[in-house]
Amino acid sequence: MVNESKYELIIGDIFETLPIKTEERLFNLIIADPPFGISFNKSSHEYGAEEYDLYEDNFTPKTYFDFSKRWIQICYDALTATGSLYIISGWTNLEYILNAITKTEFHILNHIIWHFSWGVYTKRRFATSHYHILLLVKNKNEYQFYKQNDGDVFFWPEYNRGNDPHRIKGHPCQLPIVLLEKMIQTSSSPGDLVGDVFSGSGGTILAARLNHRDVIAFEIRKEYEPIIRRKAHFGKPVSPPTKQSTLKKYLET
Ligand SMILES: C[S@@+](CC[C@H](N)C(=O)[O-])C[C@H]1O[C@@H](n2cnc3c(N)ncnc32)[C@H](O)[C@@H]1O
Repeated sequence: MVNESKYELIIGDIFETLPIKTEERLFNLIIADPPFGISFNKSSHEYGAEEYDLYEDNFTPKTYFDFSKRWIQICYDALTATGSLYIISGWTNLEYILNAITKTEFHILNHIIWHFSWGVYTKRRFATSHYHILLLVKNKNEYQFYKQNDGDVFFWPEYNRGNDPHRIKGHPCQLPIVLLEKMIQTSSSPGDLVGDVFSGSGGTILAARLNHRDVIAFEIRKEYEPIIRRKAHFGKPVSPPTKQSTLKKYLET
């Protein structure tokens, strides 16, 4: 019988809260799905979420780059020497994220495309149907990686930001649990500490609990706390993890 993992939600700005938490224990894996910063390029319709004004992320290209550089560096400092960071990004601000990474000591191991379908039809351009996921490691010679013979394009036909059996009301752009589980299962071990520096709806807490990892998620907006607690089943048991092999079989048939 595997022990129940420890899980915690920290409400506050990661620039203050993450360094304090790091003094207690370093993270083996961090997942980061940062604010889109799309108000300055008006591409919010690209990503399939409905209520962008909820984010109030009034960045300019310069401030988005500075913000990215700062949070990527504090994630670097918060990881163990063999730790990994996954960054999820749309294409519109990817250049600022990639430039920010070059200002740190991270190595980019993979540039993954997460292809999704969400039934939007466009007449004057191709409909956006992918996100970028960057897998970064601190030490390119020593890191955890438990999946082999798998390509760098992820696709689950029935899951996207707006469609997932675990999705709940109240947060506009939730990552599907299968995606979070895939990152957790690939780059950490049971008993490890996983972090999510932009928690949103709290899916990473649920995915980590399902996979027996300890987890700390950070969210600046207090009003998301009840949503996170509900989605991650705070105080209640959780069911077994999703088997990626089963999903693969489904895709092959
Ligand atoms: C794109 S959403 C994450 C969605 C999440 N992956 C999910 O599946 O629900 C980004 C989240 O980061 C939060 N956030 C933005 N700036 C933050 C900061 N400085 N510290 C902590 N959280 C922050 C926002 O309030 C928002 O909920």
